[in-house]
Amino acid sequence: MTLRTKVKEALSQGRPGSTILVKGWVRTIRNSKEVTFISLNDGSCLSGIQVVVEPELVNYREITGIGTGSALAVTGVLQESPAAGQALELKAGVIEVVGGADQDYPMQKKRHTFEYLRTIAHLRLRSNTFGAVFRVRSALAQEVHRFFAERGFLYVHTPIITSNDCEGAGELFRVTTLDMAHPPLENGAVDFSGDFFGRATGLTVSGQLEGELFAQAFSDIYTFGPTFRAENSNTARHAAEFWMIEPEMAFADLSDDADLAEAFLKRLCRFSLDNCQEDMSFFNAQIDKGLLERIEGVAEASFARMDYGEAIERLKKAPVSFQFPVEWGLDLQSEHERYLTEQVVGGPVFIMNYPKEIKAFYMRQNDDGKTVAAMDLLVPKVGEIIGGSQREERLELLERRMLETGIEPESLSWYLDTRRWGSTPHAGFGLGFERLIMYLTGMENIRDVIPFPRTPRHAEF
Ligand code: 4AD
Ligand code: MG
Repeated sequence: MTLRTKVKEALSQGRPGSTILVKGWVRTIRNSKEVTFISLNDGSCLSGIQVVVEPELVNYREITGIGTGSALAVTGVLQESPAAGQALELKAGVIEVVGGADQDYPMQKKRHTFEYLRTIAHLRLRSNTFGAVFRVRSALAQEVHRFFAERGFLYVHTPIITSNDCEGAGELFRVTTLDMAHPPLENGAVDFSGDFFGRATGLTVSGQLEGELFAQAFSDIYTFGPTFRAENSNTARHAAEFWMIEPEMAFADLSDDADLAEAFLKRLCRFSLDNCQEDMSFFNAQIDKGLLERIEGVAEASFARMDYGEAIERLKKAPVSFQFPVEWGLDLQSEHERYLTEQVVGGPVFIMNYPKEIKAFYMRQNDDGKTVAAMDLLVPKVGEIIGGSQREERLELLERRMLETGIEPESLSWYLDTRRWGSTPHAGFGLGFERLIMYLTGMENIRDVIPFPRTPRHAEF
């Protein structure tokens, strides 16, 4: 019995004259009088292998009648291809129809819009674009782990069910086993003491707080896991479920944090160019014309760093009218972020030291009494891709900030313990994995870089 060869291997390492077995799905089938051509794709690479079927084949008639989307097992002989654009093709000896597909198969050859493809997210995986997206996504996830492993970072799995709202923005999805029709009430409010965990719980918005606990024991750590936000913003950059990579370093300040973020993003740019060439060239040709040049530039660039105060000045002087107001103390909106990275800097830029009122309670307070040691990394086309900070390591200041922002210090006593005993300056950041994929592929909607997107009113599949 011949062992199966993946199409990627057959096309890159196959020897003309050798007999191989490939298995995959029909992307296109072209019948002419003397010969039928099938493009067979198995997901291992963007290209399909061209299968040449001649009338001598025992089941030739069956094969000429199969539809796009059918699953085939083809044993044949590799031969040099006379056709342009491919070195090798497979002359079929035996074709087994493993699973047929008829004309109702929704992914016929014509081009479909991304909107339509989202309604068939279970099948869009078999298209060129989504094949490329999910191969790049998988390769980058593995590279994320290599990057941190090489630097001696411990990989930690932080909990998904939690009772803390790390970012304090009230975007927690509730997790409960209470009877929704008859929840126990106390003074008109739901009494969670009878709930599964004996308290109100939700899905985590960030693994950071637990990550900090680990950094205070293992020095350098990272998490890479699913994150949930019940944020009712229907934008192309927000998902209710997304994946976040969060490194945390003890004995580190904001500048060390930015250095790590810069090295990390550059490494992922370089990696995608060097290791996902076929898929990246596809994105460059079909999705975003300047992509390769832009990513190449970022891989070699030195990232700009700008204070929030300066960013506000630059925005105020901008010869464009923004929809949202620009004022010291207000948060930057997407339009501001994109203006800064695209027009002012023309590349990635860290905006640092934001007003404390618009940032989370855990960020380290600067000596000016007004700002905190926060950083956001902005990149062209996407805007914010990374958010991070140096953390407040001084117990008293942290407790005071919690009270100011309405957080009961007692509720996070375990978090405060790390400031009680052996506290260190420490810092970390979060990279939204889907934002990264958008950036590296040129795909413009977050729904098209995550397998089965969860957004307001959408949780199918
Ligand atoms: O800026 P954020 O909210 O930062 C944190 O959660 C910190 N606890 C991270 C840390 O310091 N350890 O989120 C970090 C990143 C954003 O920059 C963005 O890339 C992504 O997560 N992100 C989202 N991605 C998709 N959909 C959403 N709704 C997102 N919200 C944040
Ligand atoms: Mg942020």
